Amino acid sequence: MADNNEIYNPPAELVKNANITKFMEKHGLKTLDELLTKAQDYEWFWAEMAKELEWYKAFDKILEWNNPFAKWYLGGKFNIVHNAIDRHMNTKTADKVAFIYEPEPENEKVERWTYRQLNTEICKFANALKKLGVKKGDRITIYLPMVPQVAIAMLACAKIGAIHSVVFSGFSSGSLKDRIIDAEAKVLITADGAYRRGKLVELKKNADESVKDTPSIQHVIVFNRADTKVNMTEGRDLWWHEITAQESDQCPTEQLDSEDMLYTLYTSGTTGKPKGIVHVHAGYAVGTYATLKFIFDLKESDIWWCAADVGWVTGHSYIVYSPLMLGATSVLYEGAPDFPNAGRWWKTIAREKVTVLYTSPTAIRMHMRYGEKWAGEHDLSSLRLLGSVGEPINPEAWRWYYKYIGGERCPIMDTWWQTETGHILITPLPITPLKPGSATKPFPGAKANVFTQDGHPIKPNENGFAVLLTPWPGMLRTLYKDPERYKEVYWSRFPGIYLTGDSCTIDEDGYFWFRGRADEVLNVAGHRLGTAEVESALVAHAAVAEAAVIGVPHEVKGDVPKAYVTLKVGFEKSEELKKELKDWVSKEIGPIARPEEIEFRDKLPKTRSGKIMRRLLKAEALGKPIGDISTLEE
Ligand code: PRX
Repeated sequence: MADNNEIYNPPAELVKNANITKFMEKHGLKTLDELLTKAQDYEWFWAEMAKELEWYKAFDKILEWNNPFAKWYLGGKFNIVHNAIDRHMNTKTADKVAFIYEPEPENEKVERWTYRQLNTEICKFANALKKLGVKKGDRITIYLPMVPQVAIAMLACAKIGAIHSVVFSGFSSGSLKDRIIDAEAKVLITADGAYRRGKLVELKKNADESVKDTPSIQHVIVFNRADTKVNMTEGRDLWWHEITAQESDQCPTEQLDSEDMLYTLYTSGTTGKPKGIVHVHAGYAVGTYATLKFIFDLKESDIWWCAADVGWVTGHSYIVYSPLMLGATSVLYEGAPDFPNAGRWWKTIAREKVTVLYTSPTAIRMHMRYGEKWAGEHDLSSLRLLGSVGEPINPEAWRWYYKYIGGERCPIMDTWWQTETGHILITPLPITPLKPGSATKPFPGAKANVFTQDGHPIKPNENGFAVLLTPWPGMLRTLYKDPERYKEVYWSRFPGIYLTGDSCTIDEDGYFWFRGRADEVLNVAGHRLGTAEVESALVAHAAVAEAAVIGVPHEVKGDVPKAYVTLKVGFEKSEELKKELKDWVSKEIGPIARPEEIEFRDKLPKTRSGKIMRRLLKAEALGKPIGDISTLEE
């Protein structure tokens, strides 16, 4: 259970040497409260942070805020790749290892990529893209597994001013297709296959299926990951190694405007159509850089492991961009955390002497279920800080992580943020006293609160809607091609104030306690999934008349989808059909969307205006009071 008074103070040594402590000393700030108060002047804070990056031309205005549209660092000329790669080329970082790449099959060799080697491959690949006619502003979809080439592809796009759209390699061909169509991508970058739990996932096959219906795609570039046989369409499909072989290892980095688009990343909302979140070069760079530097305290000697997938925002911000900007060494692991057994991560941490580990509550709960004996077999004493992200961490999992992984010495940074926010916003710093289950307080320069239904700040320990009150540099700029939806989804519930969609409380010490989503979005194993997406996949099946999907709690994954289905006339309810429908959803969206349970109904509860009342189904499933039913049809 959560306890507002259970407090863990950070070790004195850690506090003394922390990057944030140095920053505070420089500005004459003595306590965390003084820091947070001073940084309420957020233009001051974010200008200070921007000075640590390199600009081709200095910006002349920090922020232009036409609520809800923000522009940061106006007048500046910038490229995130200059900061992640180019600027290291004349320093000793050039020969430092950027990525320790660990393939899933244990008989394959670990690769160590230096910054210089990365630069060479990025330049060659960028030149190859240019030869294919890719220009500034073009959209490129990337559908790759966790291999160094995913970072190389992203950085090559950004280098020449093209916009990348990474699609998680666990998504099906249908999800990939929708995202390519929305982005109107010119090129798709994929691999022949990828390994997951010892099995080969045939990515090129999925890609072929998708591009049948995507007229914008001119070329498919295939990275040979697994030496498997694939179909290559003459003229359209090209091998990565062939098109880069003859390219020069020099390629100028495009000098962009601060606000030029860096990427779009699709995330789930409350309708069936995913939203293309838009991030730009400069503000995003400053925000991700500052948060990694201060929250995870990265230093020259650290070995960083963000155990996420590049297909999600965590991978974009904290595997690819910010660690490279900080000149860090990171682990990039291809496969599953429990393959070939539950000791895989711990073995890697011991071998590479990883110092900071960042993962999700789902992964922690999974390891907790396997038992601490697995971690106990390895020397984890190199660890000095831990992190959690993606969903609320239950205090039991927090304490287990703290004790068995962190050896009761490593503070846990429970970081709250979203695809939309670009970087962490509510979080402890290494100097913050921790409470298990609380993301503690807003990062310097951020201002958050929790509102009641009618837009007043809640009283301590009451539940409400988490909101963000001031702009921040990494914030989404809009939804791709849909500024109206951007305004409506985030800024209309409380006019001019950013609605996170999360339910939250704040305790008497000002600590934030996130409770989960307040809308019809699930958080399955730390990944967002709209109930409407699963419903539209279900009703696309020949047997289904109507479907309602709710989230039900799951011991490991947080939430899982449960579906209520009515069948069309002529179809029989059966266990086989349930299985068929589950497989169908998996195939339509991806395995994360697979319903845990399907229940056939003759009718679904609806309002008189015909809207399905998922709230009632949920109350029933959880054995809770059903509340107000005055709008129920019958
Ligand atoms: O509900 C919150 C939850 O994850 C959502 C954002 O999901 P996504 O955009 O996929 O990004 C995940 C990685 C940043 C939020 O609206 N969430 C994220 N971090 C936390 C969290 N809930 C509680 N505590 C967190 N630390």
